[in-house]
Amino acid sequence: MKAVHIPEPHTLNIIEMEKPEIRNSTDVLVKVKRAGICGSDMHIFHGTNPLATYPRITGHEVAGEVVETGTGVNHLRAGDHVVIEPIRYCGECYACRKGRPNVCEHLSVFGVHEDGGMREYLVLPERQLHAVDLELDWDEIVLAEPYTIGAQAVWRGNVEEGDTVLIQGCGPIGICILKMAKIAGATVYMTDLNEERMKFALESGADEVIDAGNEQVDQAIMRLTDGRGVNVAIDAVGLPSTAALGVDVVSPAGYVVILGFDERPSQIPQLPVTKKEVTIVGSRLQTNQFGRVVELLNQKKLCSDGLITHKFSLEQAGDAFKFVEEHPDQVRKALIVFD
Ligand SMILES: NC(=O)c1ccc[n+]([C@@H]2O[C@H](COP(=O)([O-])OP(=O)(O)OC[C@H]3O[C@@H](n4cnc5c(N)ncnc54)[C@H](O)[C@@H]3O)[C@@H](O)[C@H]2O)c1
Ligand SMILES: [Zn+2]
Ligand SMILES: [Zn+2]
Repeated sequence: MKAVHIPEPHTLNIIEMEKPEIRNSTDVLVKVKRAGICGSDMHIFHGTNPLATYPRITGHEVAGEVVETGTGVNHLRAGDHVVIEPIRYCGECYACRKGRPNVCEHLSVFGVHEDGGMREYLVLPERQLHAVDLELDWDEIVLAEPYTIGAQAVWRGNVEEGDTVLIQGCGPIGICILKMAKIAGATVYMTDLNEERMKFALESGADEVIDAGNEQVDQAIMRLTDGRGVNVAIDAVGLPSTAALGVDVVSPAGYVVILGFDERPSQIPQLPVTKKEVTIVGSRLQTNQFGRVVELLNQKKLCSDGLITHKFSLEQAGDAFKFVEEHPDQVRKALIVFD
């Protein structure tokens, strides 16, 4: 079988490798149908993902068809369409015991710390696979993983019906958070610097967009909320300045949700945090969000609606990575399509 192989940063090859086999009773063999290209795949390619190890087959946004199941697999059978939950954890550390396996001490992320889904076949334990309705298009279900990132951010920010929410950044992650915040019943304001991305955010349901390159975001938020601030400020940009801005514009008793990986410090004074009793939380990957996202996909309440802009074959993976990198204005989400 073929796979997209990154032996070291800046090198990407299509290699021929042995098809994986079922080894444990709970294993499932999956034929991959679609894999999304995510910012973190690009970082692995460039050697700028501090968490990744090499050599690596990337890809953590994956949909495929079950080919074979181990003898101890109870809920899946050949022919099922599945999406992959990319986290493997110990089940015993503090985080796992607290129901937060996404930040397990021994966390291993599919396609980051271990080989991922940009290959024709893969084997994973049943618990990392979620079946979706057979009638759904592969292009729709391959977005399950980025939707879970959105679901997690909305859950961590405690977004509830009637809340006002600021999402900074109209990239694919910002859009996935938007979809989940709208399903939760919030009013959503978004920012970006890129006109095309702001336009797409409006098409995707944002109530207002603020051009952060031309407007003072804090002033715009105060105007939109009658001086109250937003109840939840979610940062899907990930700069020191955007993280700090969340604390500025959040309302009393509000939540600030951080998703970025920037290692530089933000300047956050104590007074607004204490005075407003702000809750600042991180949001990483997801915990228990696949069930809900699959349900919303099955109900057709989560639809891509223009989020996927480009598709490439497995053989074209090198060109795909190059294109995604060079055309941020055109690419929202690009997919690798398998035969
Ligand atoms: N925590 C997690 O689990 C998780 C998962 C995936 C991605 N992320 C992070 O989420 C962030 C967004 O991911 P993405 O794939 O959508 O990235 P992206 O780069 O495609 O989108 C970021 C957007 O922010 C815009 N932007 C840049 N500076 C801005 C500013 N000052 N104000 C407003 N907008 C600005 C850009 O124009 C771009 O459209 C990244 O930081 C990524 O690392 C976190
Ligand atoms: Zn991703
Ligand atoms: Zn653990």
